[in-house]
Amino acid sequence: MSNNIKGIAPHGGYQVNRIATPEQVKEFTSKANFLPRVQLNKRSVSDLEMIAIGGFSPLTGFMDQDDYNQVVSDMRMANGVAWSIPITLSVSVSVAANLKEDSLVRLDNAKGKYIGVLHLSQKYTYDKHREAVKVYRTDEENHPGVQVVYSQGEVNLAGDVWLLERTPHPLFPSYQIDPVTSRLILKDKGWKTVVGFQTRNPIHRAHEYIQKCALETVDGLFLHPLVGATKSDDIPADVRMRCYEILLEHYYPKDRVLLAINPSAMRYAGPREAIFHALIRKNYGCTHFIVGRDHAGVGDYYGTYDAQEIFDEFQPGELGITPMMFEHAFYCTRTKQMATTKTSPSVPEERVHLSGTKVREMLRRGELPPPEFSRPEVAAELARFMQSKRPC
Ligand code: ADX
Repeated sequence: MSNNIKGIAPHGGYQVNRIATPEQVKEFTSKANFLPRVQLNKRSVSDLEMIAIGGFSPLTGFMDQDDYNQVVSDMRMANGVAWSIPITLSVSVSVAANLKEDSLVRLDNAKGKYIGVLHLSQKYTYDKHREAVKVYRTDEENHPGVQVVYSQGEVNLAGDVWLLERTPHPLFPSYQIDPVTSRLILKDKGWKTVVGFQTRNPIHRAHEYIQKCALETVDGLFLHPLVGATKSDDIPADVRMRCYEILLEHYYPKDRVLLAINPSAMRYAGPREAIFHALIRKNYGCTHFIVGRDHAGVGDYYGTYDAQEIFDEFQPGELGITPMMFEHAFYCTRTKQMATTKTSPSVPEERVHLSGTKVREMLRRGELPPPEFSRPEVAAELARFMQSKRPC
């Protein structure tokens, strides 16, 4: 583990680094053909990466049974540190049967490339229904997060991990800014307060509005779109990143924003995921985190402000990052600007409501979002995507 870098402390107090040293790489490589193998899916590859770079500090590996149980029931790890989403590696009973506790396991990606090592400390079975109900607040299979839980293996493998190599992201190498670097950059910029923004949708004007409202009161904005696995109908990450680049170019003060990718996978766990998203951004060096309407929600599974109310379940200081809550923002046709009911005298008919889902629906119908929805340069980029007929 590397030394702490000054600034806001990583979650749990120290910055985890589980990227193998050259000596470890040599040792693990020499064992490559002798270790039992587990193949990781896209989400587990992201989780491995996030653990290794300290994005999930203080986690140093996949959760054991005590941490898992406590996180599922109480949003805390066994040592009491706040954590809201189980980070587990699940395999089938037959794969687990061939693995011995207290031994090393080779971790391969979906293409069979050797990418990491697990020190298997424990194998345990778990209750999928309980995880669904407690973490996702529903046991419905249609929920994309629950679907993943139901389809994964019956046995969780716990233990510390090492990532063999930190390779550049194939699409966004210049935006791959890991926590150790983002902390240095943020410090270098002299920003005392930094607000993190999570998103998985093409940026629209409600996003821009709440980001800029936040930016009025803090020193910098850490724009941190998620580029790990999302559900198949979300807009692809490369399209979304181009939208952010375009928007930053035309509509933001360059010296107040840092754009970087968040490699983790979406869970769609609404309130629980808002806490998780905030803790990740704390690890990247943010002091504040934006939580708007139905954060990380999907369908009608969560109330509009559930993801804000869940922050009340933690004592002041437990999370170590301050949420900045925003009401549902809309375009107000009366005042001709973005607003919420806190700032607009409008009646409902005068409010143009915006959401990523609406933009996706319009694109599928072959329509472009209007200027009240998206900046024209962003709409043009979305039009290019639509004409390319890639699925979304
Ligand atoms: S999310 O799954 O990553 O939360 P999205 O990219 O749409 O989805 O949202 C990013 C952030 O913007 C979240 O905090 C969300 O609550 C907020 N947000 C999105 N649309 C609105 C809106 N119309 N009003 C207020 N907040 C919004």
